[in-house]
Order: sequence, then C-alpha cells, then structure tokens
Amino acid sequence: MCGIIGYVGESPAQPRLVDGLQKLEYRGYDSAGIALADEALSVFKQAGLVGDIDLPAGATQTRGIGHTRWSTHGKPTDANAHPHTDCTGTVAVVHNGIVGNYDDLRRDLPGHEFTSETDTEVVAHLIEAELERTPDLREAVTAVVERIDGSYALGVVAAGYDAIVAARRSSPLVVGYGDDGNFIASDVTPLLSHTRSVSYLEDGDVARIAHGGVEIWNDGQTVDRPIHTIEWDATAAEKGGYDHYMLKEIYEQPQALRQAIAGRIDPVEKRADLNLSLPETFLNRIDEIQLVACGTSYHACLYGKQLIETLSDVRATVEFASEYTVGSGRNPERTLVVGVSQSGETADTLRALRTARRTGIRTIGVTNTVGSTVARECDEALYIQAGPEIGVAATKTFGSQVVTLGTLALTIADTRNELNPTVGRELCENLQDLPGAVQQVLDHDSTVEEVAREYADGTAFFFIGRRLASPVALEGALKLKEISYDHAEGFPAGELKHGPLALVTDDTPVIAILTDGARPDETKNNVKEVQSRGAPVIAVTSGGREGDHDIGFEVPDLGLLEPLVANVYLQLFAYHVAHSKGRSIDRPRNLAKSVTVE
Ligand code: F6R
Repeated sequence: MCGIIGYVGESPAQPRLVDGLQKLEYRGYDSAGIALADEALSVFKQAGLVGDIDLPAGATQTRGIGHTRWSTHGKPTDANAHPHTDCTGTVAVVHNGIVGNYDDLRRDLPGHEFTSETDTEVVAHLIEAELERTPDLREAVTAVVERIDGSYALGVVAAGYDAIVAARRSSPLVVGYGDDGNFIASDVTPLLSHTRSVSYLEDGDVARIAHGGVEIWNDGQTVDRPIHTIEWDATAAEKGGYDHYMLKEIYEQPQALRQAIAGRIDPVEKRADLNLSLPETFLNRIDEIQLVACGTSYHACLYGKQLIETLSDVRATVEFASEYTVGSGRNPERTLVVGVSQSGETADTLRALRTARRTGIRTIGVTNTVGSTVARECDEALYIQAGPEIGVAATKTFGSQVVTLGTLALTIADTRNELNPTVGRELCENLQDLPGAVQQVLDHDSTVEEVAREYADGTAFFFIGRRLASPVALEGALKLKEISYDHAEGFPAGELKHGPLALVTDDTPVIAILTDGARPDETKNNVKEVQSRGAPVIAVTSGGREGDHDIGFEVPDLGLLEPLVANVYLQLFAYHVAHSKGRSIDRPRNLAKSVTVE
C-alpha cells in the first residue's frame, strides 16, 4: 500500500528509481513520481502508472526518491502524487502511511502554501520550518517525526544535502546495501537486482543513507540494525514469460508447496515437526488457538481451523483481524494466537497481534516475508517459503499458508499426544503428494480457459462447498470478484437456501466443490436446488464421483487436501474470466497488496 524507493550512490538515480517503482507498483498504482537531487531539486510526478511519468532523458543526479501511490487522503490526481515539496521547492518527501494529525500540524504552519489535499505534504513544510533552525536534514526530520501521530515510512531528499533521510513508524522500510550505492525501499523486491544485503528499520528509527554508509538513530542514540541476506533471487520477482504475475504465481504452486514442507516433514517417518521454540509445556496446556487474518489469509485460517480441530483436541477460532478482541476470560497461559499474513505488514493483523500480546498471550506469525513486522513482533515466526508474490490477488500463498497451518496442526497434535497415527501419517503423505496433484490441475488449464470463456458473461457467480470446501468457496468468490469485477459470492453450501437462493437464475453459474472431506453428498442436494432454478453448475469432484452438473473437473484423491487442490481450478477460472474481459489482472482497480492502513 504505497511503495517508496530511494537511491544514493555513484550511478544515475533515475533508472534505478523507475525500475524500483515498477517492481513496487503492486503496492499502489494511482499515481507515481520521483524527485532527483543534487545542488537543486527536480520533481516529476503524475496520476497513473510509473511508465506514464514524463521523465527527462539522461538525468545525471545520483540521489533521489520515488513513490507509487494507493490513495488515502485526496484523489489520484497529479497534484496529490508524491513526492511532495515545501514552499522553497528544495525539500521532497515520499510517504507510506497516514499522518493522523495533519490538520493540526497544518494549522501550525501559517504562511505556508499547500498545493495538494494529502496528509503527506505537511511533512515537507514542517521540514522546511525545521531547516531554518538546523542545516542538518537528519536533525530536521527527527524533530518533525516526533510531532506526527500516525504511521509513516518516509524518504526525504533536499537540494545540496548529500544523503537521503529515512524514518519509520508502523510502515515497513528496508535499507539495501549495494555495490554502487545504497537504497531504501518499502520491501525487498526492487532491491533484488542490486543487492541481497538488507537491514529492516525498526519503529522510531531515523536513518541517514549516504553513498559512503548508513547511520541509524533511535531515540537520540545511534543503533545497529543487523544486515540480512535475502535468499530470493532477482528472477523470482520477474514475470518470466507469463502474461501476468498472477498466472505465473498460480503455476509456481507445485514448487511453492514443496518449499512450504521442506525440512518440516520426515519423508520416512511421515511425521511433521516445525521445531517450534514455544515450550512444550505451554503447547500441552493450551485449550484455544485463535487465528486472525484478513482476506485470502483469513480463508486460509478457516481451512487451518478445521485441520487443527481434526487433528487435536484444541479448540480453534477464526476472526477477521480487524474485528479481533481477545474475548473475555481468556487465560494467556491457555491461549495461543496465530496471525497469518502473506506480507507480514497488514495493519489490521498487526493490530490484532499487538492486542493479544498486550494481554500476555503468546503469538505465532505465519508469513511469507522475512523481516516483516509480523515476523519480528511475534514470539515465533513461521515462514511459508512461497517466494515473492507480486500479483495483487493472492494465489500461491493461500496454498502455502494452509500447508503451513497443516504442519502446525500436526506438530501441536503430536506434541500433545493427541494425534491419531493413521490420520497423521495420511496427512503427511497427502502433503507430500500435494505438489503433484496441483500440477495435474494445472495440466487442465486450457480446458478451464474454455469453460471460463463460455461462462464469463454470467451476471453473478456463486461458489458453494461444505466443511473444508467452504473456505475454498469463499476464496474462489474473492478471487473472481477482485480481478473480474463480477459479482461473486461464496457460501457454505447449506446456507444457500437460507436467502442467497433468491439470487439464483439461469444466468448465475454456480461453482460447487464436491470433493471428499467436504460432505459432497449433501452438497449435491444444493446442486439440485440451483439446477431446478435453471443455474448452470460447474462442479469440482474427486473419487470419480458421478453427477449431472453441466461441467465437471476432477481432483486426484488427497484426503483432507482435496479442496485445496480444487482451489487451483477456481484460481484458473477467475484468471481466465478476468482475462477474457481484458481486466487489469495484476493491478485490479482500487486494490493494492500489503494493506498497511486500518
Ligand atoms: C486477496 C488478497 C487480500 C489479502 C489481504 C491480507 O487476493 O490478496 O485479501 O489476502 O489483504 O493480506 P496479507 O496476507 O498480506 O496480510
């Protein structure tokens, strides 16, 4: 949600900033801009994509910042595009976050002329005012951030000042150490083609990023932030010949799923072990696991809940992170909170995890992003190891999250001696066979494409499934609506007749998941109900199950994981419906990846 980049070094900054912004566009694409600084400041920005910015040829400045915006305060216009400047036109600021008290701060700046409706512009003017007191940009920024209520990752450049100043509170910011210069960025993806050495700024950090080195202060003291080596390679964040990142990521699932269980399942013993650092005595004591997440990650939690409750005696609850409260009478000694977040930066999920931690509850963060705030703040970080996901619609990470929750469920059940050995062994085998099963679905892509084209003109789409297929129904509908803009809804199949059936007509395709473990025989009755109202039915089945649906797709036998495999059909269906309508698949309207505002 808004991407920022900065570079200072010996090479021209402009191409590095533009390339970096293009890789960050999945965080927001309402407007884009860069500021280049030497003894003067030049700003180029406009509404639209990074590629739309009208840039000079051959700019030689070796210092600059850039921004790609997901609008919060102010419409996506040229004037509201970042970077924002002060009255003198010598200070430029890019910002990810929200300055909550910007109105009050603005009132303290009489005589300053504002040119945008954003909350960010006030920061540039405050720095201008501070620079009348001190010539040191880092000191000026430090004084300004102390006055901000809200969240920020900031990058600041000024004419005649030979470094970038960066600051962070509650919005992610990474420092990259390159051979020909140093960087700041919202996440590591734009840095991979320059360096794999990064540090993660902490809340309250203010950093001075110069060509010659990086200095970081927190609360007036200089601090060291460890340098990490990123394992992802640069090509992982490229499209690699696919039309869209989303399609590439759907196809990466067999590999991502292999990585999710790598080193976590003993191939001979068929036992899962996550080597949790949480004490066994605690795991033996817990009586409730609260899962919190948003969007697709929330759907993964609904699946994970059922796995936990199938394998162990622990009660599992799932809440939207934005709605989470610990619940009255919860005993921190008996409760575990698991926050699931691909990005590890979702503000709602962070808030929920912090709420839990404040009451003394231990937390596990399940995330794809090494060094993310979720990973750093939780008692234990479990990485899903899916590799970078750039498409705004989450695909490969859903499966990897479910698999990671599955191995967590196995580990906890085993630790507590509650695991039925046959059930545990079968699930481990299924997890090992999952990548191959997903590949079999991918091999049917061209058939899914034909079906998607045939039904793409439906006025609405309904997805139904029971038990483990119910979260997959919700996920199938979310995927379709976010990238095709069609009305799509998912329901536990039994709920259809309690209201939504009123919407079913011969123009509303119903996608039914009838796999094992999803009470398919009961869902078949719901299929009949919609068919008798004329709706065409596309069914995903397993075990050679007969049915009189219009279109049938089959998944291989895979026990508790069959609905997860069925989900890959739904991803392909959503992709091809959206593609046939010419939608902006990797950058759906109004959305952005990594939602860092509440
Ligand atoms: C949907 C999607 C979103 C995210 C949600 C949570 O395709 O991507 O619903 O799942 O914003 O994001 P993370 O997992 O980063 O916390």
